[in-house]
Amino acid sequence: MDYDQVEIRDGRLVFDGCDVTVLARQYGTPLMLLSETVVRGKCAQIKRQFLERYADTRAAYAGKAFLTIGLCRILDEEGFGLDVVSGGELYTAIKAGFPAERIEFNGNNKTRAELEMAAGYGVGRIIVDQPDEIELIAEVYRTAGKRANILLRVNPAVTDTDTHAYIATGHRDSKFGIPLDEEVFWPVVEKALATEEVDLLGFHFHVGSQLFDPRSHLSALDTVLELVLAMRERYGVVIRELNVGGGIGVRYLKADRPPGFAEFLDPVMERIDAFAEQNSLRRPTVVIEPGRSVVAEAGMTLYTVGHVKRIPEGSVFVSVDGGMTDNIRPALYQAEYQAIIANKADLPTQEKVVLCGRCCESGDILIHELDIPEPSPGDIIAVFSTGAYCYAMASNYNKLLLPAVLLLKQGQAKVMVQRQSYDDLIRLEV
Ligand SMILES: Cc1ncc(COP(=O)(O)O)c(C=O)c1O
Repeated sequence: MDYDQVEIRDGRLVFDGCDVTVLARQYGTPLMLLSETVVRGKCAQIKRQFLERYADTRAAYAGKAFLTIGLCRILDEEGFGLDVVSGGELYTAIKAGFPAERIEFNGNNKTRAELEMAAGYGVGRIIVDQPDEIELIAEVYRTAGKRANILLRVNPAVTDTDTHAYIATGHRDSKFGIPLDEEVFWPVVEKALATEEVDLLGFHFHVGSQLFDPRSHLSALDTVLELVLAMRERYGVVIRELNVGGGIGVRYLKADRPPGFAEFLDPVMERIDAFAEQNSLRRPTVVIEPGRSVVAEAGMTLYTVGHVKRIPEGSVFVSVDGGMTDNIRPALYQAEYQAIIANKADLPTQEKVVLCGRCCESGDILIHELDIPEPSPGDIIAVFSTGAYCYAMASNYNKLLLPAVLLLKQGQAKVMVQRQSYDDLIRLEV
C-alpha cells in the first residue's frame, strides 16, 4: 500500500502490524488508531533531516494536532518540545510529566488564569500574539516573582499561502500575530524591551498549514529578517531566537506528494544563514512547530457500514457509524481523504460511493467520491491519515460518543484513550 506501515495480508488491511478488522471487532467502531512506529519515524526524520544537520535548532510539536498523555511521553522520549495553546493542553502535558521548560505557549487569547498556570509551572516560552498582551503577561509574572521568556508572533502579511483559507494564518487581515505597521509593532517591541518581567528572545511566525512548499515561509522570512535589522538599528538589540512555525504538508490522498522535512526546511535555513552571514550576525536559534506532519499519517479511523442506499440514477450513500463528530475537516474546509474497505482490501474497486457520517447534517460527508469494491452492511471502512486535527477537533454533536484511541506498535495494540460512555455525556449536568 502507499501509506506508511500499511499493508494487505490475506485480503485484510494491516496497520503497524495489526489486522484492523480484528481491532474493529475487539474494540468496536468508530475507532481511531495511532501508529507509534509512524510517530517515532516522523520524529526520527525531523531529527535526521533538520535538528542534527543544523546546530542550535529545536522542534516543538504543536499539540493542537492531537494531544494525549501517552503522546506527550513519546515526544518527551524523542527529545521534542511542545507547543500548547490552552490551559487544557498545558495540563495534559504537565500530567504526562513533560518538562515545562520545553513547553511554548501560543494562542491569540491566553487568559490570565492560563498565564498563571504557565508561570506556575515555569513554561519555557510565551509567544506574544496580540499587541496589548505584554501588560497582562508582566502582571502575572510579577505576581509570581518570575520572568517570562517571550517571542513576538508577527503577522508577516504574506499573500501567497497555497492552502485553504481556514488554515492560512499569515495574511494581513488575520486574528493571529502582531501587525507590522509602524505605529503598532514598534511600540510593542519598546514595551517588551522596557518591561522588567519579560525577556524578549525573538520573533515567531506561522503562515499556515498543509503546505507543500516553503514559498510562504520564505516570503515571511524576508519580512521578519528585515525586522531583525531594523531592531538592531533602532535599539541595538539582536534577536536570539526565531520560530518559523509549523505547516509542513502531509499525504492524505494517494496522489499527494508532500515535501520531505529537509526539502521544506533547507531553503528556510539557507535564507537565514545567508542573512546572518551578510549582516555579520550569529544565526539565531531556529525553532519549528510541526503538528500535522508528525501525527497525521500515523492515524487511521475505522468505521462500520450500517446502510448502503442506492438512489436510482443518483448516488450510492454508504452510511458509517461516525462522521463529522470524529472528523470535521471535510465539512469544515473540504478536506479530502482516502479510504478502503478493510475486509475487502484486495478486491478491485467497483463503484463510486458517497461515504457519509451519521450526524443530522447534510454536510456530514466524509468522502464525496470514493471508489471501493461493492459495499455491504458490516464492512469495516478504514480512512487513512486521520491522526491530525480529527480527534483533536471531535465533538459530541448528536450526543455521539468520542471514539476510543488505540496506540499500535508492531502488532501490539493498547488503549490510549477509552471510548466515551453515555454516563460521560451527562456527567457534568447538575
Ligand atoms: C502557531 C502554530 N504553530 C504550529 C502549528 C502547527 O501547524 P501544522 O500542524 O500545520 O504543522 C499551528 C497550526 O495551526 C499554529 O497555529
